[in-house]
Amino acid sequence: MGPRIILYTGKGGVGKTSVAAATARRAAASGKRTLLLSTDPAGSLGDVLGRTVSPTVAPVSEGLWAQQVEARDEIERQWGAIRDWLAGVLSDRGMERIRAEELAMPPGLHELVGLLELRRHAEDGQFDVVVVDCAASGETLRLLALPDAARWWLDRAVGTRRTLDAARPIARAALDITLPSNRALDGAGDLLRDLVALCDVLRDHERVSLRLVMTPERMVVDEARRTFTYLNLYGLLTDAIVVNRVFPEEVGAYFDAWRARQAQALTDVTEAFAPLPVLRAPYFEEEVRGPEMLDRLAEQVFRDVSAPTAVLHEEIGERLELGDDVAHLRLALPFAEKGDVTLRQVGEELVVRVDGHTRTVLLPPALQDYRPSGAALADGALTVTFDPPAPTT
Ligand SMILES: Nc1ncnc2c1ncn2[C@@H]1O[C@H](COP(=O)(O)OP(=O)(O)O)[C@@H](O)[C@H]1O
Ligand SMILES: [Mg+2]
Repeated sequence: MGPRIILYTGKGGVGKTSVAAATARRAAASGKRTLLLSTDPAGSLGDVLGRTVSPTVAPVSEGLWAQQVEARDEIERQWGAIRDWLAGVLSDRGMERIRAEELAMPPGLHELVGLLELRRHAEDGQFDVVVVDCAASGETLRLLALPDAARWWLDRAVGTRRTLDAARPIARAALDITLPSNRALDGAGDLLRDLVALCDVLRDHERVSLRLVMTPERMVVDEARRTFTYLNLYGLLTDAIVVNRVFPEEVGAYFDAWRARQAQALTDVTEAFAPLPVLRAPYFEEEVRGPEMLDRLAEQVFRDVSAPTAVLHEEIGERLELGDDVAHLRLALPFAEKGDVTLRQVGEELVVRVDGHTRTVLLPPALQDYRPSGAALADGALTVTFDPPAPTT
C-alpha cells in the first residue's frame, strides 16, 4: 500500500497553500515522511515555507520534503504533436492561429498533467504522506471526466491505427484534412493512458481523499458546492471541509455585520456538506508564513481531529445513477432515523428535510430538468427518485 494522499482544492486565495503546508508540517512532526507537492503554476509554496521550491523533490525540514511540479515539458513531449495537428486543422479552417492553439489545449490539462507526478509517488515507497496543494479547482475538475473520454479516444483513435492508415488518402482527397501522424497519436495515447491511470489512483478511497478549502462567504461556498458535486459524480472522495478565515469574537463590534454573515455562511456549509466534518480556522492577525504560523494554523484546523492524515470521512456522500427513464440520487444521511422526509426543488437546488435536519444538494446540470418523484430512507441513506423531463412535442 502506497502513501496516504491528501489533496487540497478550492477557489484562489482561500488558503489552500497555507492549509496544505500546515497539514504537511503536522504530519512530518508526527514522524511521517511527508511530501508537500504543489501543482499550482502560480504557487506560493516557496513564500510560505520561506525557501525556494523546485521541480525536483527537496528537503525542507525534519521529515518534510517539497516539490513544485512543472507540467510544461511533459505536455510538450506528449501532447505537442496532437496539439499542433489540431491547431493546424482549425486554423486551416479560418480560425485565428492563437485561438486554434488555445482550443487544441484543453483548459486544466496543465494541472492534471502536473498531478501525474503524484502517480509516481503513489507507486514508490519513498513517502508515508503526500499532501497536494492544487491549483484553483474548476477547470481541472472538468477533466476528471476525462478517463471516460480518454478510454473512448484510445479505443477509437489509437486502437484503430490500421483503419486510420487506410483512411488517410481518402481523408486527404475527399475531406481535405490530413489525419494526425502516428507519432502524434502515440504521444497523445501515452499521455491519455497515464491520465487514466492517475484517475484510478485518485479513486482509491482507502488512501486518497480531497479536502475543500473555503472562506465563509456566499460566493466561495457556492463554488465549493459545485466542486463537491463534481467530485462526487466522478467518484472522488472528499473527507473534510476546511472553513478558513473565520472572524473570532475578539474582532469586536465593528465587525458585527461581517460576523453575522459568516455565521450564516457556516450554517449553509453545514447543511450543504453534512455529514462531512467541517474544520475551521480563525482569521489570524497576520499572514500565514513560516513554521510558527503554519503550526498555529494546523493547531486550529485539526483541533477536533484524531490525526490530520486520518481519512476523516469514509464514503462518498452523494451518488447519482442516471438510467434511461429514471434517475436515482443517493444521499448519505447517517443522522436520519425514519421520520418525515420532505423534498423541495428550488432551481438547481434540492432541499431535503429529514427529522428536522436540512440538507441542500446542488444538482448536477444533467439532472436539472428532472423532477423528484419519490424518496426512500434505508440503511442511513436517502434515495431520491427523479423522473425525466416530459418530452416536448
Ligand atoms: N487563517 C488565516 N488568517 C490570516 N491570513 C490567512 C489565513 N489563511 C491564509 N491567509 C493568508 O491569505 C493569503 C492567501 O492564502 P493562500 O494559502 O496562499 O491561499 P490559496 O493557496 O488558496 O491561494 C495569504 O497571504 C495567506 O497568508
Ligand atoms: Mg496557493
